Amino acid sequence: MTKKKIFNIAIVGLGNIGTYLYNFLKKNKNLINNKNNNTFKIKYISAKNKRKKRKISFRKNLWIDNYMSLTKMKDVDIIIELIGGSDGPAKKLVFSALKNKKHVITANKALISKYGDKLSKIAEKNKVNLEYEAAVCGGVPIIRMIKESLIGNKVNKIFGIFNGTSNYILSSMEKNKISFNDTLSVAKKLGYAESNPKSDIDGDDVSSKVKILSSLCFGSFVNSNIHVEGIRSIDNEDIINASKLGFKIKLLGFSEIINNKLYQRVHPTFVKKSSYIASVDGVLNAVIVDGSPIGKNIIQGEGAGATATTSALVADISSILRGNIKKPFGISHSKRKKITSGKIDNLYFSSYVRINVKDKYGVLSDITRIFSTNKVSIKRVLQNPYKKYSSILIITHSCKDADIQKTLKTLAKKSYIIQKPKIIRIENG
Ligand SMILES: NC(=O)c1ccc[n+]([C@@H]2O[C@H](COP(=O)([O-])OP(=O)(O)OC[C@H]3O[C@@H](n4cnc5c(N)ncnc54)[C@H](OP(=O)(O)O)[C@@H]3O)[C@@H](O)[C@H]2O)c1
Repeated sequence: MTKKKIFNIAIVGLGNIGTYLYNFLKKNKNLINNKNNNTFKIKYISAKNKRKKRKISFRKNLWIDNYMSLTKMKDVDIIIELIGGSDGPAKKLVFSALKNKKHVITANKALISKYGDKLSKIAEKNKVNLEYEAAVCGGVPIIRMIKESLIGNKVNKIFGIFNGTSNYILSSMEKNKISFNDTLSVAKKLGYAESNPKSDIDGDDVSSKVKILSSLCFGSFVNSNIHVEGIRSIDNEDIINASKLGFKIKLLGFSEIINNKLYQRVHPTFVKKSSYIASVDGVLNAVIVDGSPIGKNIIQGEGAGATATTSALVADISSILRGNIKKPFGISHSKRKKITSGKIDNLYFSSYVRINVKDKYGVLSDITRIFSTNKVSIKRVLQNPYKKYSSILIITHSCKDADIQKTLKTLAKKSYIIQKPKIIRIENG
C-alpha cells in the first residue's frame, strides 16, 4: 500500500470564513482524511492583526506575521486565501503562491472574475491547483458540477439567483410588506447583509459570479461585457403590482450564447409565481443549467455564510488531496477562446413598465402613442389612481430591449412624468 502524503495547509484570513474553516478542519480532520487518498495538516495561519480576539485556539508557532513569506516556505503545500478583495493583499498572495508552485484555494469571486485568466495560466504552467468553488454561490457546488458532473454537456444557458442578500431583501419586502430600506436594516441586523451592502444590492456580486460561470460553461476567457442593474429602485408598489399580475421579483443573473455571441446580464426580473425560481426565497441561491444532452438541471442551497462556504472549501481541499483537476477553468488555457459579446439592446423581452404621471387628460393616449412610435407593442395596461398621481402599468409584448429603452427616454422628458419610468424584464422560462 502506498503511504498517504501529508499536505501542509496555510490559512490566510481569519475572519468570518477563516475562523469557521479552521475550527471545522480541526474537528473533522479524520473524517476528511479518511475520505481522501492523501491527508492534510494545518501548518500555519495568518491574518492582519495578531492581537485581535478570535474564536479559535492555536499553538503560538502556527501564526505567521508576514503572510507573503508562506508562498516561499518549503513546508507549505496549500494556501487558502480568505482575505477578500480583487486587488491588494489577496492578489499579491495568490499570484505569488501560484508562481511559487503552491496549490491555492480561494473564496474570492472578485479576484477570480478579474484575474482568473492570468492566475489559471500560471497554475496550469506550474501544475498546481487553483480552486474556487466557494467563490460562487457558497455551498452550492456549481463549479464542480460544471467541471465534473456535466463534463459531457454543451451548456446553452445558465441563470439563477446568485446572491442571498438581495434575494432575502426581495422576499422579505413581499412577505412583510415593508420598505426596501427597512428590510435592508433588518438584513444587516440578522447578519444577512454586510455593513456596506453595495456589491450585493447593486448587482456587482452577481456580475462577478456570472462572469466566472460563463467562462466555465462556454470554454472562454473571462468576458467583462455584462449588463448590470441592482435592486435599489424596487419599491413596495412594484412588489404589489408584480403579485397582482401573477409574478414575483427576483434579482437574476443570466449567461447564454445566442448566434455565437455571449450575452451576460444581471437585473431584477419578473418570474411567474408558479415557476420553480419564484419559490426560492430568503437567503437561498439557485442555479439552473440548460445543457445538452442533460436538459434543464437545477441546484439550490445556501449561497453564503461560514457553514456553506466551509463546505465548498473542504471540497476544494479534498480535490487537491485526491490529485484532481489541474485546469482551473475545466479546459487548458491554450484551448480557451475569446468570445464576442452581444448587447442587451439586441435581446427581446416582454417587460413591465411603470410610469408615474400627473393625473391629466390625454396622458394615457400620449403614452400609448410613444410606445407605438418606438415599435413597442402593448399587451396590457392598468392604471392605479393615487391621491397626487396616477401609476400606469404596461406589460409589453416581446420587443427589442433597445426600443423599450428609447421609449423610456422619450417618456422621461415629458412634463407629465413625476418619476423616472421604470422597466422590469419578464422571464418566461
Ligand atoms: N462571508 C461570506 O458569507 C462569504 C461567502 C462566500 C465567499 N466569501 C469570501 O470569503 C473571503 C473572506 O470573507 P470573510 O467574510 O471571512 O471576510 P472578513 O470577515 O472580513 O475577514 C477577512 C480576513 O482577512 C484578513 N485581512 C485583511 N487584510 C489583510 C492583510 N492586509 N493581510 C492579512 N490578512 C488580512 C483580516 O484580518 P484581521 O482578522 O486581522 O482583521 C480577516 O481575518 C472573501 O473573499 C469573501 O468574498 C465570503
